This record gives sequence, structure tokens and C-alpha cells, in this order.
Amino acid sequence: MNSENGKARRGWINRVPWRMVAIAAAFVVVGIGAGTLLANVVEKQVEGEQFPAKLVDIGELEVDPEVWGLNFPRQYDSYLRTQIDGNATTYGGSAPFSKLDAKPFLRTAWAGYGFSLDYNEDRGHYYSQIDQARSGRTNELELPGTCINCHTGEFVQLIDERGWEGINTTPYNDLREHVGDLGVTCADCHDPDTMQLRLTRPALINALTAQGIDWTEASRQEMRTYVCAQCHVEYYFQGETKELVFPWSLGTSVEAIEQHYDEYGFQDWEHEITGAPMIKIQHPEFEMFTSSTHFAAGVACADCHMPYVREGGVKVSDHWVRSPLDNLNNACQSCHRASEEELETRILTIQGRTKDLMESVEDGLGDAIEAIAAAMEAGVPDENLVEARAFHRAAQLRWDFVDAENSMGFHNPQEAVRVLGHAADLARQAELSAVKALAAHEG
Ligand code: HEC
Ligand code: HEC
Ligand code: HEC
Ligand code: HEC
Ligand code: HEC
Repeated sequence: MNSENGKARRGWINRVPWRMVAIAAAFVVVGIGAGTLLANVVEKQVEGEQFPAKLVDIGELEVDPEVWGLNFPRQYDSYLRTQIDGNATTYGGSAPFSKLDAKPFLRTAWAGYGFSLDYNEDRGHYYSQIDQARSGRTNELELPGTCINCHTGEFVQLIDERGWEGINTTPYNDLREHVGDLGVTCADCHDPDTMQLRLTRPALINALTAQGIDWTEASRQEMRTYVCAQCHVEYYFQGETKELVFPWSLGTSVEAIEQHYDEYGFQDWEHEITGAPMIKIQHPEFEMFTSSTHFAAGVACADCHMPYVREGGVKVSDHWVRSPLDNLNNACQSCHRASEEELETRILTIQGRTKDLMESVEDGLGDAIEAIAAAMEAGVPDENLVEARAFHRAAQLRWDFVDAENSMGFHNPQEAVRVLGHAADLARQAELSAVKALAAHEG
């Protein structure tokens, strides 16, 4: 298949839902009335299966997935599979490993910051509180309760008890004593009364409101992305209240995010080796994805990560949220006419190219860090290193935008390459600026 060939590509995508066409044609033949009846019956059956006899009333503050599971056993069963470990893919998957050991450059990049203590490959939603509580970052540092926003399935209860500010201002390790091990769960994404998708996290609601978006008016397809954007986004803690904020006041591109931080005068930490005022980017999946070809075509996170599966003639959403490489037939073949091998190759080709460019940016960043360190050691005064440090900040923020994004470029291949291209250039400018400052200093 050749992506430059429009015809071949169109053929590859199932633009026309032929099954629907066949059903519609059948309706025309049997007459509209009978058709409507049939549609009703089918819908009732599907509803009956998806919302089987309501065995229990789910309370407003019920967070236990087992209780929700009494009414929705299919979704509960697949949700439980997020416990399954060990499915490693080339760049992701659910087999946890130390990313710091896999790529020692990360310790240099984040020198002096928590991420250089402990940083692992992510795994299933079941573990989101367990892994946070175990992390060297929460054990060795005093972090605010803000961290728990995206990591506990008890969130709706916590906010009811303490209010949002109460959560954010309590130290994480104190909150930890009050919550169990429950990870991402039903109540985070669903209204217990109607089972509609909902948003429970104030930070996303605030960030959308600031952009004039009222999520309660969002379409169903938009909600299939927004529920994930409660957590899979870049964030920071603002001011004394440690409020959780998404830096989207100017937009969600890497440049808009950088400008937001520059205007706010924010730094996550001072780089231990270069003294630069750094920003650490975390999991900007939503930001990267929403400028992609897939998003423009109306595809949502849930289409690939929670695809429909047929169980005994019923269509249900697969709640085993995981790498699509583990599940290519459901995740991609509903839209793409291509073999699993072909789809896998497409993904791995994009990821391999991203990784290749990313590594050359890392070489550039490494050289920049060394050059600034050499200038500092030779006694170049701070005021002559302001420019080099600003370039270091800008270059690394861009590299991190792609590194911290968990698809190794797949969510938006062109954007990943564009951002890395700028990062490479800025890293070399940082190096050059430091080399010049050193030369000027030494006469
Ligand atoms: C068109 C399909 C598609 C869409 C839509 C999509 N993803 Fe992905 N996602 C992928 C693929 C493919 C990977 C790479 C998996 C791998 O390397 O194992 C991935 C990787 C990930 C990972 C890392 C998985 C792992 O195994 O570590 C996360 C987290 C993720 N996506 C979240 C999201 C979120 C959140 C959205 C929406 C904002 C989204 N994805 C939209 C296909 C998709
Ligand atoms: C806006 C939501 C959000 C907030 C706030 C948040 N996280 Fe996370 N965290 C995530 C998501 C999404 C992942 C999975 C993707 C990834 O690992 O990049 C994750 C993964 C993790 C992991 C597992 C992977 C790793 O990094 O080793 C740890 C540990 C973790 N977070 C700790 C923390 C700590 C500590 C804080 C507070 C400083 C925090 N998180 C705040 C959303 C959040
Ligand atoms: C309440 C916060 C939250 C929400 C909502 C959320 N995630 Fe996550 N997600 C996390 C955290 C935290 C992790 C990492 C857990 C760990 O490593 O312990 C994670 C991990 C993942 C992974 C990696 C799984 C693996 O096996 O490697 C994928 C893929 C993913 N999320 C996709 C999604 C998608 C798609 C949505 C929306 C349908 C979504 N998430 C909604 C917080 C969230
Ligand atoms: C990370 C968010 C998230 C979590 C957590 C989650 N769901 Fe869902 N759920 C979804 C999405 C997305 C859909 C698809 C909704 C749509 O297309 O309108 C869905 C659909 C459903 C449906 C409608 C039928 C179907 O399968 O499409 C039921 C019932 C359901 N979920 C039950 C549960 C239960 C029970 C739990 C907890 C064990 C749970 N969900 C946890 C996101 C989530
Ligand atoms: C809900 C439908 C849908 C799903 C699911 C889906 N795609 Fe797509 N995909 C599209 C559409 C539509 C386009 C855009 C075609 C165009 O405009 O030329 C596209 C474009 C692409 C492209 C070319 C653009 C790019 O971003 O590089 C690749 C590669 C691709 N898809 C791979 C995949 C893979 C792999 C999966 C499964 C992980 C997947 N898609 C899942 C509908 C889908």
C-alpha cells in the first residue's frame, strides 16, 4: 500500500458502511413501517443486553467497580483485564520496566528533578493508584495531594468530603492513608444514574470552560475523547493552592503551551547541570492527538483503545484499555481494510522514524548540556548564559512533548516530526550560544 497514492489509500479505508447500506436497502423493500419496527426491536435487544436487569441501584458516590459490575458484567469483566501485565510492544505495552535504565540520557535530561529518581513504562488502569504510591517520586519527595487527581478511583468521594482545594493542599502521602488501591474506574467516566459519559475532573472542566466549551453540550463522539482528556494531558500545579491547571489558555500546540508557561513565568525546576529554568512535559496525548489526521476525520480515543467487540451478538465497548497493537483487528480493522501485518508495519514504521529523529535530538541536547556546563566551569558569568539556558529550556520542552507522549509519534506522526525538528535546531543553538559565551570569556 502506498500512502502517496490517493486511490490506494481510499480503497484501504472503509468509507462506506456497506452493512448499513444493505440494511437500509432491506428497509426500502419491506416498507418503512416494518423497517422502523425492526429497528426498534433491534435497539431494544441491544439495550436489554447492555443494560440488563438493573440488579442494584448505583449510588451517586459509589466507586466500587464490583457494584457497578453487578449491572454491567461484560464491561466489568473486560475492565478487570487491565490487571494483566506482560504484554510488551516495541515501544509500549503493559510490561512495566524502568525507562531510566532503558535510556540513561533521561537522568541527564531531568537532573535535579523527581523524574530522574524513578520513571516507568505505564500499564493498565487497574494500577494507577498502586503505581503512584509505589513510585520513588512519591516516596522520596513531599508532593501535594494534587497528584491524586488522576490516580484514584475514589475521587468523587474525596471531592465530596474535602472539596477540590482540600484535596490539592493536603500532602499526597497524607491523602494516601485515606484511599485504597482503586485505580481508574467506572465512576470516573460514567454517570451512575444514566450511564452517560461524564466529566468528573475540575481541571478539565475549567480548561474547557476557559476555551468557551461547555462539555455538557458535547457530542457523544467528543465525549469519547474528553473522558480520556481528564488525565492524558500536560498539567502543572498553580500557586499556593497547588491547583491543578492545564496550560491551554493560548491553545494546545507545543508553542501555545510554551507561551502560556513563559507568560506565567513558570518553571518546574532548575536544571542541576546547566542552571536552566526547565519545564517537564507529561503525557500530552490529548494535545498531540487533537491536531492529527485521525482527529480531523472524527476518530476518538475510544475508537482505538476501547473498540466495540461483539459478544454473543451484542456490541459492547472493550473496557480493557490498552495498546492497540495488542488488538489490531478490533482497534483498526473496523475502519481500515488491511491485514494485521500491514497495520502493524504502518505503526512500527511511524514509531521507528520518530525514535530515530528523537535520538538525534538527544545527541544535540547532550552536547548542549555539556557546552553550558563547560562554560559554567570556566567561570562564564550567569548573565552571559541566559540565552543558552533559554534555548536549553525551549529545546528540551519540545523533545519532552514527543518523548512523554506515549504513542512514539503514532497519534500524530507529522506533528511529532515537526516538533522534534525544532527541538534539534534549538538544541544546537543552545550549544552554539554556550560555546560563543565561553570563547568571549576566554578572549
Ligand atoms: C487511530 C488509533 C488511535 C487513537 C484514535 C488514539 N490512539 Fe493512543 N495509541 C494508538 C497506538 C497505535 C499506540 C501505540 C501503542 C504501542 O506502541 O504499543 C497508542 C498508544 C497510546 C498510549 C500508550 C499505550 C501503551 O501501551 O503504553 C496511550 C496512553 C494512549 N495511546 C492514549 C490515547 C489517548 C488518550 C487518545 C485520545 C486523546 C488516543 N490514545 C487516541 C492508537 C490510537
Ligand atoms: C492530569 C492527570 C495527572 C496528574 C495530575 C498526575 N498524573 Fe501521574 N499519570 C497520569 C497519566 C495519564 C499517566 C499514564 C501515562 C504516562 O505514564 O505517561 C500517569 C502515570 C504515572 C505514573 C506511572 C508511570 C511513571 O511515571 O513511573 C506515576 C508513578 C505517576 N503518574 C505519578 C504521579 C505523581 C507523583 C503525580 C504528582 C506530581 C502525578 N502522577 C500527577 C496522569 C496524571
Ligand atoms: C482518571 C484518570 C484517567 C482517565 C480518565 C483515563 N486514564 Fe488512561 N491512564 C491513567 C493512568 C494514571 C495510567 C497509568 C497507570 C499505571 O501505569 O499505573 C493510564 C494508562 C493508560 C494506558 C496504558 C495501558 C497499558 O496497558 O499500558 C492507555 C492505553 C490509556 N491509559 C488510555 C486511556 C484512554 C483511551 C482513556 C479514555 C477512554 C483513558 N486512558 C482515561 C489515567 C487515566
Ligand atoms: C476511562 C473511561 C471509562 C471507564 C473507567 C469506564 N468506562 Fe464504560 N464506557 C466508556 C466509553 C468511552 C464508552 C462508550 C460510550 C459511547 O460510545 O457512548 C463506555 C460504554 C459503557 C457502557 C455502554 C455499553 C457499551 O459497552 O458501549 C456501559 C454499560 C459501561 N461503559 C459500563 C462501565 C462499567 C461497569 C465500568 C467500570 C467497571 C466502566 N464502564 C468504566 C468509558 C469508560
Ligand atoms: C473510526 C475509524 C478509524 C479507526 C478505528 C482507525 N482509523 Fe486510521 N484513519 C481513519 C481515517 C478516516 C483516516 C484518514 C484518511 C484520510 O483522510 O486520508 C485514517 C488515517 C490513517 C493513517 C494515515 C494518517 C496518519 O495519521 O498517518 C494511518 C497510518 C492509519 N489511519 C492507521 C490506523 C491504525 C494503525 C489504526 C488502529 C490502531 C487506525 N488507523 C484506526 C479512520 C480510522
